[in-house]
This record gives sequence, C-alpha cells and structure tokens, in this order.
Amino acid sequence: MADARPFHWEYQPEPVAREVFRVEGGTPLSGTVAISGAKNAALKMFAAATLTGERCRFTNVPEIEDVRVMAQTLQHLGVVVDHPSPNVYEVASGDVDWLFVPLEAAAKMRASFMLLGPLLARFGRVIISNPGGDRIGRRPVDLHVDAMRALGAEIEYRYGYYYAQAPGRLRGTEVRFPFVSVMGTENAMLAATLADGHTTIRPAAQEPEVDDLIAFLQKMGAEVQRTYPDTIEIEGRRRLRGAEHHVVPDRIEAGTFVIAGAVTGGRISLTGAPCDHLGALIDVLGRTGVDVSCGTDTIEVDGRSLDDAGFRATDIVTAAYPGLATDLQPPASVLLTQAEGTSRVHETIFEDRLEWMSELRRMGARIDLPDANHAVLHGRSRLTGAEVEIGDLRAGASLILAALAADGTTTIHGAHHVHRGYENIEGKFLGLGARIERLAEGNDATSS
Ligand code: UD1
Repeated sequence: MADARPFHWEYQPEPVAREVFRVEGGTPLSGTVAISGAKNAALKMFAAATLTGERCRFTNVPEIEDVRVMAQTLQHLGVVVDHPSPNVYEVASGDVDWLFVPLEAAAKMRASFMLLGPLLARFGRVIISNPGGDRIGRRPVDLHVDAMRALGAEIEYRYGYYYAQAPGRLRGTEVRFPFVSVMGTENAMLAATLADGHTTIRPAAQEPEVDDLIAFLQKMGAEVQRTYPDTIEIEGRRRLRGAEHHVVPDRIEAGTFVIAGAVTGGRISLTGAPCDHLGALIDVLGRTGVDVSCGTDTIEVDGRSLDDAGFRATDIVTAAYPGLATDLQPPASVLLTQAEGTSRVHETIFEDRLEWMSELRRMGARIDLPDANHAVLHGRSRLTGAEVEIGDLRAGASLILAALAADGTTTIHGAHHVHRGYENIEGKFLGLGARIERLAEGNDATSS
C-alpha cells in the first residue's frame, strides 16, 4: 500500500443530468402517502453486509440515488449486489478483491466512508477517499479515523486518501467521542463487531437508524447492545453470518410530508410512518397549532387551521436525537414562515445549513440571518413563485414545500439533489393533488 498513487489527479466529476421541478402552488394537499424506508439506515446496512461473505437481503430499501451509488461502489469492490424487485436488494461480499473506495464514490456521497470500519475489520486494510457529500459546511471525518486508531488500526492520510491497515485483528477498546456523531458511532460499531474483545462506544448516537443497524447486526450474529441510552457495547466475534432485514421507515421523509400537509392548509395521512421517531417535530407542530394524530404506523395531519386562526410562531433548536433533527430544520423553517409572529431557528449541528434560506427569501419569506447558525423568521410571509436553486438534499425538499404553499409558479433548479434521498418525490406529491412536474434543465419554459 505504501506505493499507492494519488488516484484523484485524474478524477473529473461525472456530468450530472440537471433537472428542474416546476411547481404550481396554492393547492391544499389531500389524500394518503406511503413512507419509504430510511436512507440513513439502508446505506449503513449495505456497508454492514460486507462484514460477512454470506448473502444479506434487505427489504423496504428506498429507490433513491444514494442507494444506487452505494450499490455501484460495492460492485466496484467485487461485491455482488442484486436488485430482484423494487425496494429489495441482496448483497453478497464473498469475493471482495479490490479494497479501494475511490473519490468518484466519496464525492457523490459521504456515506461511502461507512465502508472504512467493516472493510478494515474483515480484510485488515482499505484505501478510502475523504468524502464530500452534501454542501452543508465543513464535514470532517476525524472522529471516524480516531475511533479506528483506538481500535488498533494504523491510518495515514495522503493525497486525499486514508490508507488504513490493521495488523492482525482490530482490538476491542473504549471509544470516547468528544460529541455525538451518527456515522462515527456506526463506523466504530461495525468495526468492533469483528474486533478481538470488548468495545464500549460513548457517547453513542441515539438515532432510530442506529438502533435499526444494531437490530440487523444482531441478526448477523454480532454481539452488540445499547446498554444505556448513550452507550453501545460490543463483544467482538470471529465471523458473522448473512441475514435479512426490513429497513425502518424514513422519519425525515415522514416529517417532510407532515409539514407539506400543514403548510398547504391540507389534510393528509401517512402510512408506514414512524410517529414514535418524530417526537421533537410533533412537539414543534403542537406549539404552532398544527393538528397531528398518530396511529400504530400512520400519521394524520390537518393544516386547515392555517386558514382560520393561522399557525403560531415558535423557536426551534436542532440537536442530536432525541432532539429536533437537523435534517428537519429546513422543512420546519418553511412552516415557520407561515406562522404569525417571530420565530427563531438555531442550527447547532452543521455550519452553513441556513444558507438555503436566501432562496426562501427570493420567494418572499422575511428572514434575518444574524450569523451562520441563527435565523429570525418574521411571519406570516406571503410566498410567491420564483426561480430558486437547490444546494443540498434537505433544502431541496423544503423549497418544494415552500413552492406548494406559494402563489404562482416556482421553478426549482438542481432537482437531482432531491433524488439522492427521496423516493419518487414528485409522484408522491402528485398523488396528494400537488401540481408539480420534473423536467430536464433547458426544457422548462420559465428558465430561458
Ligand atoms: C448523519 C446523517 C445526516 C444527518 C446527520 C446529523 C447519514 C448518512 N447522514 O450524518 O443526514 O444530518 O447525521 O443527524 O446518516 N463531525 C466531526 N468529525 C467527524 C464526524 C462528524 O467534526 O468525524 C461533526 C460534523 O461536522 C457535525 C457533527 O459532528 O457538526 C455531527 O455530524 P454527524 O452526526 O457525524 O453527521 P453524519 O453522521 O455525517
């Protein structure tokens, strides 16, 4: 590995087929929408499947671009990835022959870095690119790397790549994070399942997708448990086996649709929806006066009070689970533009995650941005159609919500970002009565 070349010199990003959404606002949404499986669980399970040579089978996998990128990345390593029917994938890692995760994968998706822990633990070495992912601020991977080093790996960083090796097996240890990291927790956990001895991870992320990954690992024969809310303990095994798993529903997609029902003054039902995982959002909705009710796996939202008393302003602060997810900050902010009074948004997880609000302003939202982590929203703003640009996945879905609530036509450029994480988003909105279409960039009448 010492002579490996800096592969990224020749890298040119693939041209992306640019698309736009054109949305005609002003229709209250109504009807029923089915929630897909969670992106942030499925991607980690594909990575976990490389811990064994046996076949793993996943159902309820969302049909999204990030899953396609992960499948392709695995195929380039020699992993067999089958897709026998919609939302079903099988991953068999018996013949991994190329322990190299290139910049092409990493530039498209940060979650490619989830292959560090499992490949290192099973094969003892991997060369993996430093990831890019969403354009939402500086997103380092130092916690992942420190965790692998604590488990006994030797890692060097050269030319944009981490060269990682583990002489012999990784060794169980105490992994102490300075703060909570979702993928840091998951990477350390995957590596520790095949390490020699006992590992404790603290503070461990508490997101439901982490627990879903734990459930899958247990089916693979891993000895892993959440022993306290913020602690995961693992007793390393020599081998894991193949397993089957149904991916947990996507709470971020569910939250996005709940808010869509509210901001359009509509009434919709979500099926296969994880109400239990949306406590912080439901609390925010309660404060604003949106009517939400939870069934066993359904959520009903009634936003018709928008037309009577209006929604009430409230302040929100993002936090690690069980706090309000940073991925729900953009849609929740759209809701707050429709509330009467002043709301404050405090983004604590990522730098630059409020930048998309400048696009929301182009639609007529009255927003002050005193610094990179705070926004002050003055409601209720009358939103009007405009030309806007999507910079990242979650902001993209939120601009669709704003467009649905606006008067007139909105053209949203950069629609391809949304397909990274939302299955058939325009089809789902169409099914709820929205007027939305997806066009190739250049074929949209309003963007000459
Ligand atoms: C995951 C989710 C993402 C979500 C985020 C927070 C996936 C694929 N992505 O991202 O949708 O928005 O959790 O809920 O599951 N940090 C470091 N060093 C590191 C790692 C993280 O400084 O090595 C920082 C980050 O910059 C951020 C904070 O830690 O400020 C939390 O990030 P983290 O929880 O790691 O997010 P991801 O796992 O990347």
